[in-house]
Amino acid sequence: MKTKNVVDLTDLSHEELEEVVKLANEIKNRPEDYMDACRGKILATLFYEPSTRTQMSFQTAMLRLGGKIIGFDNPQNSSVAKGENLKDTVTVVGGYSDILAIRHPLEGTAAAAAMYSPVPVVNAGDGGHLHPTQTLTDVVTLSNESGRLDHLCIGLCGDLKNGRTVHSLIKTMSTFEGNRFVLISTPELTVPRYIKDIINASGCKYTEVRSLAEAMPLLDVLYMTRIQRERFASEEEYKRQNGVFVLDREKLRTAKKTMKILHPLPRVDEIDVEVDYDDRAKYFVQTVYGMYGRMALILKLLENNTKEYPGRVMPTHPFRCINPRCISSTEKYLPGLFDEAGGDMLICKYCDGRRLI
Ligand code: NCD
Repeated sequence: MKTKNVVDLTDLSHEELEEVVKLANEIKNRPEDYMDACRGKILATLFYEPSTRTQMSFQTAMLRLGGKIIGFDNPQNSSVAKGENLKDTVTVVGGYSDILAIRHPLEGTAAAAAMYSPVPVVNAGDGGHLHPTQTLTDVVTLSNESGRLDHLCIGLCGDLKNGRTVHSLIKTMSTFEGNRFVLISTPELTVPRYIKDIINASGCKYTEVRSLAEAMPLLDVLYMTRIQRERFASEEEYKRQNGVFVLDREKLRTAKKTMKILHPLPRVDEIDVEVDYDDRAKYFVQTVYGMYGRMALILKLLENNTKEYPGRVMPTHPFRCINPRCISSTEKYLPGLFDEAGGDMLICKYCDGRRLI
């Protein structure tokens, strides 16, 4: 595969994505053919933020391919606790391993890590920004369970503002023809402006609604998400949002019989456990598809990437990003990198935040 780093799934061309999904299905059908495919290779997982599924499925994926794993899931046990910066950690761990998966509470961290890593970097979640391997999980699930990735009516419900899985899923699904999005949230938790701009530019359509009942009969896919408590400024603000949308058996009465219910997990209370026994609930099998998706992605990224330390990246502008949750606001050595969006508007290449010149 030509792509070296996966900051978002849209870094892969459509062809590359199709190849990864196809390989994931091949591995699922014949896992014994791949049990030595990564013999001698090492995956490093650098997790600066809690995780169950993503970290374990990355690790399981590498182990099932015959490779080995190193890493940390509590930065307090690493030199990060002594004040080591991201650049140095990534440079060193990249020297020990063949591929890095990184999760961090700040937006843009994977993009920053990729600037220093000698080996491929995969974003395993950067703050409330992006989460490409969850989207790969979702795509493998839909290709198997819905039988297609286009012409789907996809409802996304819950914390669409802070939910990184939502942002990555919309970005990827809007590259397939004929998909429509129904955005189900409170006015406070709607998707960021830049995601709406991406949908509009793709030619796909979206509508915003304030109730599950209104959306339900239209949907081929319902993607439920939890309210991202850790991203709220105060507990009061979180409590105002939590519990607004709860999927239960009663609400499913008007849904299509073929609708698929997905959730990146962890679930808090946005899906009643009774729903787990409905045939349309796919969120547990989704986690298994995710493991095969990550196996395929690891294999493809290791195909022809040799260890090479990247050269220095120069700033594009003499400005800094003004988003306090952007990695470049904390790690001051990072060059200011922006795309020009017309007029006086700049878009930060790490976090997609906007600022004026
Ligand atoms: C998601 C995440 O970390 O963004 N979890 C996951 O990786 N499966 C969703 C969430 O935490 O709500």
